Order: sequence, then structure tokens, then C-alpha cells
Amino acid sequence: MSQELYDAPNSFIQNANIDKATYEAMQTAALLEPDVFWAQQAERLTWFKPWTQVFTGDFSTGEINWFTGGELNVAYNCIDRHLAQCAQKTAVIWEAENGEQKTFTYQMLYDEVCAAAAMLRSLTVKKGDRVIIYLPMIPQLMFTVLACARIGAVHSVVFAGFSAESLHLRIKDCTPKLIITADGGYRRGQQFAVKKQVDQALDAINIAHVLVVKRTGQEIFWQSGRDLWWHEQKDNVDLNLGIHAEIMSAEDPLFILYTSGSTGKPKGILHTTAGYLLGAHISFYYIMDYKPTDIYWCTADIGWITGHTYLVYGPLSHGATTLLFEGVPNYPDPGRFWQIIDKYQVSVFYSAPTVIRMLMREGDEWVKKYQRLSLRLLGTVGEPINPEAWRWYYDVIGEKRCPIVDTWWQTETGSIMISPLPSCWPQKPGSATRPFFGAKPVLLDEAGQLLTGEATGYLCLAQAWPSMLRGVYGDKTAFYQLYLSKFPHYYLTGDKARRDKEGDYWIIGRSDDVMNVAGHRIGSAEVENALVAYPLITEAAVVCVPDPIKGEAIYAFATLQKDVTPTAQSAKEACEWVAMEIGKFAQPSYIQWTNALPKTRSGKIMRRLLRKIAAGEYTDLGDISTLADPAVVELLISESKSVYKSK
Ligand code: WTA
Repeated sequence: MSQELYDAPNSFIQNANIDKATYEAMQTAALLEPDVFWAQQAERLTWFKPWTQVFTGDFSTGEINWFTGGELNVAYNCIDRHLAQCAQKTAVIWEAENGEQKTFTYQMLYDEVCAAAAMLRSLTVKKGDRVIIYLPMIPQLMFTVLACARIGAVHSVVFAGFSAESLHLRIKDCTPKLIITADGGYRRGQQFAVKKQVDQALDAINIAHVLVVKRTGQEIFWQSGRDLWWHEQKDNVDLNLGIHAEIMSAEDPLFILYTSGSTGKPKGILHTTAGYLLGAHISFYYIMDYKPTDIYWCTADIGWITGHTYLVYGPLSHGATTLLFEGVPNYPDPGRFWQIIDKYQVSVFYSAPTVIRMLMREGDEWVKKYQRLSLRLLGTVGEPINPEAWRWYYDVIGEKRCPIVDTWWQTETGSIMISPLPSCWPQKPGSATRPFFGAKPVLLDEAGQLLTGEATGYLCLAQAWPSMLRGVYGDKTAFYQLYLSKFPHYYLTGDKARRDKEGDYWIIGRSDDVMNVAGHRIGSAEVENALVAYPLITEAAVVCVPDPIKGEAIYAFATLQKDVTPTAQSAKEACEWVAMEIGKFAQPSYIQWTNALPKTRSGKIMRRLLRKIAAGEYTDLGDISTLADPAVVELLISESKSVYKSK
């Protein structure tokens, strides 16, 4: 247990947006008088009409309402309201994969978003309609997200690394009026297809229009009437159509973002207008210590919640300069991130432990080639950061000058819930430390008893906060069932955590059947379903093993159809199949062909046994007396010697 403490430098503390006494006063108010606290905070947003009631609802029903009666528009808050003072300030820097760049001032962003909004309106998209956005990291991704918010359409961004099949499921679930995509994208100097996945995903689905951005100019299938080029629509549209920002009620839906749970079907997490924006806004201000002079870079893809909250909405709601990068950390070489930091003088950098570990392995010389003098604050998100990677980030990247905020949160929480505030208390490598305003973390045991003091248990949140999810799209009972029913009156995060004697939180990992591979949330059941859909496989069980770079890697046990010989080739094909069904990021790293899975007498697969075998821990296998056939253990151990490893 680490006792390592890191204090932020005095220069950081003196200029920070918050000090310890203010934190304590604000957090006390947020927990004891949430209505008063959140009403004060909400004044930071621009409202068309004030709210009449700050909060109604509770966790026993799953009915949550913040700022009832209030009206506002998220895009107006992110763009229009900055124009008077900051029209010529850079809003977005786009660094293309090949090193080209484009910058957009707030005025330019306004023009682009209004044009996109006009296109959407001309295609009859209106308030409440869903729009699926399946785009690589190009400026139009930012524009379309904001254009949806402007006209009150509910965006559902699908990460462009998802397969046609995953996209298909999402289209069926949220029935969008329009899909926005691109012909292709660039990755590692190569083109990849994007529109092709949309064409496949639309198999047997009718949709009026697909709006296509030309990014690569590659050959694509074109369905005339349905498919429309972005640039042609933009040239022909009446731009005035986009100007008016729709008046939205505080609880009108803003977006749906699909994420994995313990069932095979991804859940469409629904976020609404005012509460989400407020969470994004204030967490960005205090945790990223936002200063108007910052050049801020969040490396997440907009297709994940981190990209939504901390690349788009948080920074733009403050009039910040936010960087959008099309490429990957190690192309053309592992110095790319540090080169970009010097190129644009990035001051606040927010990334993921898996990226840090990957770049750490490449050696310090890639970092030392660049100066990184502009950096003043570093952040991580998505998975626990191991102290070794933390120290490298701190010592080598930040040269002991930049505090690190290890931020814990989820798609469902909308914004950061637990994080260091380095001007208020010391950082501890590996710990997300303390709750942000309004977050009331608690630890519960299996029976739902509240644990006090130093403890390890189920991490739950005991009080409603503005940016929390409002539900699962299209499934009225799921919110309550999945998040509020296990421990009545508590929101279940699905994570396990430890609290140390100073009260700091250490996130251990998921307590459910959700895996975290390179910071991506993947349900075991999703991968199992994909494997079983592979023609040769009859049954599959998937677990995680520790991985030095990805944090966790997927290890699949699968049984083959009778008379099929297990080979490395079929394992390779099964991995490729999963990539095709879900996306490359969900590919198993290991496949163990087996003759039988370990089942209890009631027919349940004993996953904890599989976890041990996958990790090579054969000595202490725990209680296996409930297995229907104990001989399966020896079999699994001997088969594990010839496991297939994907590269
Ligand atoms: C994990 C990402 C440890 C956690 C914003 C959570 C973390 C899941 C951290 C949510 C952190 C996120 N330390 N674990 N700082 N941040 N997680 O929905 O298991 O993609 O439940 O949201 O990531 O993943 P999601």
C-alpha cells in the first residue's frame, strides 16, 4: 500500500481555480444543501428561461429531474455566448493524421455548426429525432454533434472502430432519422473504409438519408436518393435555416451513447440537457483547472463519453481551445503526442493509462526529443493507473512539474466523480483520491451494509447529481433494474473500490462481467455471443487476464463442433470474426480450445476457475466441489499449454 504523496508545486497551487477551504465549503454545501449549491452553480450557464425547481426525484423510483422549468440550448452555451468576447479566439485545433492542421475560431465554429444545423433541418431532422454519427476524428464530427444539440436532435455517436454489426444493432435500437458518415478515414498512413460499414449495417433497414463527408476520396457504394454528399448539401442549403438555436427544456434528451454492461446487448445511456452540461462545465473548470490561455488536449475519441464531455462540451462551454487529433499515439513514431504538444504548446493533457504504458515501453528518448515546456497539468481516465506508469507520466512527461488528475467516472455519470484536486490535497499514484462536488461515494458489502473507515467493497453513489444518466434508451425499467435495485437507495457503479485510512478511494476494477481492455468497456457476454455466432464454435466463456499494456486482455475458452480439429488457424479466424462482429478493440488476445467448459451441477459456468486457469494460477483453485465433472479441471490445465495467442 503506497504511502507516496505528491504535492503540487506552489506555482500551481497559487494560480489554481480552487483551494482546500473552498473545496470543503463547496462539497459540504453540495451534499447538505444540494438545491442551494446547484442553483448557484447553474448560474454559470446561459438560460433562456430560469428553472422553477432545482431537483425532484429519488433513487427508489429512478425518476430524476434537475432544473425543472428551465430552458436553454447546449450549443448556444458552447458557441453563441462566447461570440461577443471571443469570436476570434481559436475554438478547435484539428491535427490531421498526416500532420496537416486546421484551426477554427469561435466565429468559424459558429458558421460551421449553423451550416450543419441547416443541412439537418433541410433533411427534416427536428427536435427529438435521433441522428447516428459514425465518423472518424475529423472536424465534421465536432460540427455534427453540436449541430444536433443546436436543433434539439438527439445524437448517438458510434465510435468508427465499431463493426457494421454493432452499428446495425445501434441503428435498430434508436431508429435514427439520419446517419452521418464519411467515405473513409486515415490510420497509420493507410485509408480505411467507413461508409462500407454503414451500407452493411443498413441491410434490411430503410432510412431516408445518409449524409457522407468526403475525407479520403476512395471508391464507395452509392445509393442514389438515399446517399447525399456533405459538401453538395452544404453548398445548396439555405444557411439561415441553421441559425436559430432550439429552445430546449432542461430535461430534454441531449444524446444517447451506447456502452457495455453485463448483458449481451449494449445499453443506450441517455443524457439530458441542463444537468449534463452543468456537470461537464464545472468539472472541466475545477479538475482541468481551466484558464482562458490554455491549449487543452483530450486524446479520447469523440465516440466515447470522455470525448463527449472533455473534448467537446466541457471545454467549449468555457470558450476554451480544444484539440482534435485524427491519428494514433505511435504513428509515424512514438513521439507523435509529444511533438503535437510542442507544436501547439498544449498546456493541459488528458489521456489514458493504456496509452501511457504503451509509450513508456518505447523508451524515454521519444519523449526527450521534445521539450513539453508548455505542459502544466496531466490527466488520466478509463482504468486504474498502476503506480509505475503514474511515476513515469509524472517524472518523464511532466518533469515533476505537472500534477496528475486520475479521474474516475463512467458513461453513466456523465462527468468526473472522483479525482484529485491537486491544489487542495496531495496526489497518490494509483488513487483517484476524493469525490468531486455532489458525488457521495460509499462502499457496501455483499449484503448491502455500509462499510465505514478503511474498507473494500462495492462502490456506490448515495446522492443524485445533475449529470447522471436519466435512463436506458427504449427500456423504461432498465435504469432502475440495472443501477438502483441491487442496493436500494444507492446508485451501483459496477466497480469495486478500496478506501484507505485518509479516506482516499482506490478503484480496483469492475465487479460485474464487464471487462476493461485498453480503457474500453466490453461486456464478456458480447464477446461470447460473437464467438458462438462463429460457425465452428458451440460454446464460449470469456474472462480477463492482466496485460502489461492494455491493463486487461481477453482470454476466451471455446468448444468446437464435434469432429472439428482445433487449430491455430481456426483460432485466428475466430479472433477476426469477433473483430468483424464487434470491432477490433474487442478481439480476444488468447483462445483456448477446450473439450468442455467447467460447469456447476446447475449448469452455470464457473468463471472464477477459468480466470485462475487463464492467469496460469493452478495451485489455489478455490472450491470446485460444485462442479458437475471435476475432471474438467485437469483437462483445462493441460489444454492451456497450447493456447493460441493473437499478435
Ligand atoms: C473504469 C469512462 C479506475 C471503471 C470515463 C468505470 C476507471 C469504467 C477510471 C467506465 C479511473 C474509469 N480509475 N477505473 N480513473 N476511470 N474507470 O463508461 O471501471 O467507458 O466503471 O467511462 O471505467 O468506463 P466508461
